[in-house]
Order: sequence, then C-alpha cells, then structure tokens
Amino acid sequence: MLAPPVVIAIPGGERHAQRLVERLGGERADVLVRQFPDGEVYVRIDSPVVDREVVLVGGLDQPGDKLLPLLFLAATARDLGAKRVGLVAPYLSFMRQDARFHPGEGVTATYFAALMSRTVDWLATVDPHLHRLASLDQIYRIPTKVARAAPAIAAWIRREVPRPVIVGPDAESEQWALAVARDCDAPCVVLEKTRRGDRDVSVTAPQLDAHRDRTPVLVDDIISTARTMIETVVAVRAAGAAAPVCVGIHGVFADGAHADLLAAGAARIVTCNTIAHASNAIEVDDALAEAARAMLAS
Ligand code: R5P
Repeated sequence: MLAPPVVIAIPGGERHAQRLVERLGGERADVLVRQFPDGEVYVRIDSPVVDREVVLVGGLDQPGDKLLPLLFLAATARDLGAKRVGLVAPYLSFMRQDARFHPGEGVTATYFAALMSRTVDWLATVDPHLHRLASLDQIYRIPTKVARAAPAIAAWIRREVPRPVIVGPDAESEQWALAVARDCDAPCVVLEKTRRGDRDVSVTAPQLDAHRDRTPVLVDDIISTARTMIETVVAVRAAGAAAPVCVGIHGVFADGAHADLLAAGAARIVTCNTIAHASNAIEVDDALAEAARAMLAS
C-alpha cells in the first residue's frame, strides 16, 4: 500500500501538483515561497513532513525563477524530517546541452543532473531530451522514471487528424515520431536538419512525395524558438504537402515563437500539458502520475 505523499508545488507547479494529488492521493502542503526585499528567497513548509514521502512538483522551464525555491524546499523538507524527497518535473530542462559543442562550453546537462542528484532522492519526468545520452541514468545518480507522451499524442491524432503522416523534423525527433506513428498506425518519415545556430536551421523533405494525399503531423519533443518546426513547415509545403499540424511534447515557446510558427503556415499547433500554454491539448497527467507512483513504491 502506497503511503500518501505530501505534495509541494514549486513556483508555477500548482496545477500539476493538484492533478498529481487527484491521481495519487496524499495532500497538498501549505508552503510559503517569497522573496525578501533584497531578492533573496524565503521558504516555509507549514504542513508536517516528519517520516513522510515528500513530492516536489513543477516544470523546470524558465528555470532561473524556480531552481532556488526547489533547492530550498527540498533542503527544508529533509531538515524537517521527511523520509524521502522526490521531484516530479513534467518538463526537465538543461537536457539539450549534453555535450561540448564548442570549445569552452559547459556541459550543463551533466552539471544540472549532478545538482538534482544531490537535491532529491528520485525524479519522474515526461520524455526528457535524450539523444546523445541513451538514458537519464548516464548523468543522474538517483532513481528516475520517464513517462511517455506518445500514447496520448497518438490518441489525439486518431481523434483529430484524418489520414495523417507523422513527420520527424530531424534524427533527434525520430524516437518520438516513430513511437507516435506506431501508436496511431500511420506512416512516418524523418527529415534531415542542419542547425548552424540557435535560430539558424534548415530542413529538407524529399521523402514526403509518397504521402502527398495525407495530412503531415510534425512531431518533436521541444518547441523552443520554433525554428526547427518553422523550417520543417516550409520544407513540407515546398514538397507539395498540405499545411501541417505541429505537435510538441514540451511547448517552451521562446518569445514570439508560437506566432512565428503560425505565420510560417502551420495549420494547427498543439502541445502536451507539461508546460502551461494556450496550445495545450494533450494531457499526460495519468502517465506522469504512474511514473511518480512507481518511484514512490520503490
Ligand atoms: C532538438 O533537436 C530538439 O529535438 C528540438 O528539435 C529542438 O530543441 C527545437 O528547438 P527550436 O524550437 O529552438 O528549433
């Protein structure tokens, strides 16, 4: 029998925390997180946590505002006697800088993993950006569990898109595009992308010729500047295909990215609800709660 956890939202994680409690039971803790007048962070946990499983919940997009509260809440919970402290992060940031691409760069995926591994006892998340890394275990020293968004995305496509062809913009998206295509029984093509800078990307799509009668559904894990999606939309249209539906697991949407993608010709943009955004149409709460349940039972 699972011990009901004490669930603490990190800033911005309130709705995810509520949805987790609805699925796992347990209770939301009363906490106060605020800034002192000098900008330093104050945290207080008003609910009892002694010998309890504590679960911190919240996405780690825009991490600058969230990391110190997360570190201090975890330390406070431990200090107050929590049995274990876990982290449920619907979006796990810092995963893309997983190598030194240019001399002198920091490999921040590794540093962030080391920091989180010292901060919490376990981690559950939704589809982290794993490409050069095969699994989170390569950089995290704590138990981790990954919830998969593909089944929920495939179910949405089945409901909303007649005759889809799933399109992965690049080799890094292949794992998600193939899983979605398999789950919704659609053909899949994976294109080739060249990235020359944060916002300088090109994509080619000759393989789409065979699927001109289908609706392209572009599937990627992250939409950030949207340059990858935008160049893919352009390539898909240039190949003679219909205006595509763009599906991102994590809609980070850097400034103006959503509007830019619509302006580039996306018929529709939808995301999973790992990061709150008007494009959220696909819920992954059940999968994430299952991942957290597995960690709590371990
Ligand atoms: C990296 O390859 C990822 O899978 C995404 O394609 C990438 O992060 C998207 O970033 P942006 O929206 O800035 O092109």
